[in-house]
Amino acid sequence: MAIERTFSIIKPDATRRNLTGKINAVFEEAGLRVVAQKRIQMTTAQAESFYGVHSARGFFRDLVNFMTSGPVVVQVLEGENAVARNRELMGATDPSKADAGTIRALFAENIEANSVHGSDSPENAAIEIAYFFAGLEIVG
Ligand code: CMP
Repeated sequence: MAIERTFSIIKPDATRRNLTGKINAVFEEAGLRVVAQKRIQMTTAQAESFYGVHSARGFFRDLVNFMTSGPVVVQVLEGENAVARNRELMGATDPSKADAGTIRALFAENIEANSVHGSDSPENAAIEIAYFFAGLEIVG
């Protein structure tokens, strides 16, 4: 199986509750490696651009406000089938529908404050990684 990279965000609800280490432990125990990571305060412009695909959705403004409400940890995760594997680990977007043991079932507060973001395809992973990281910042 191919070694892949995916993009991940530990969201403001999780950084506020000091859950970065617990969430990283889920990734690492599942065989994903954190090959780049930084804690940043997203600007409104960065969040609007990152979530541009959702700009017509009713939840867009709330989503941007939430993602800029506190620090986030942006990450690159590497491992076998990393995109799909991370999506399994995260669970459904709505934590009330997430399988037991997934990050969102364990930690998320609601569909907006859902603790983590993960790329939905290898193509989007490449775009999202390049949005936040220079190549030299990723050390596999
Ligand atoms: P994420 O994977 O970061 O991508 C878009 C985000 O929009 C999603 O996670 C949710 O946290 C957020 N969101 C807020 N409200 C909704 C909603 N009603 N449906 C889908 N996503 C929502």
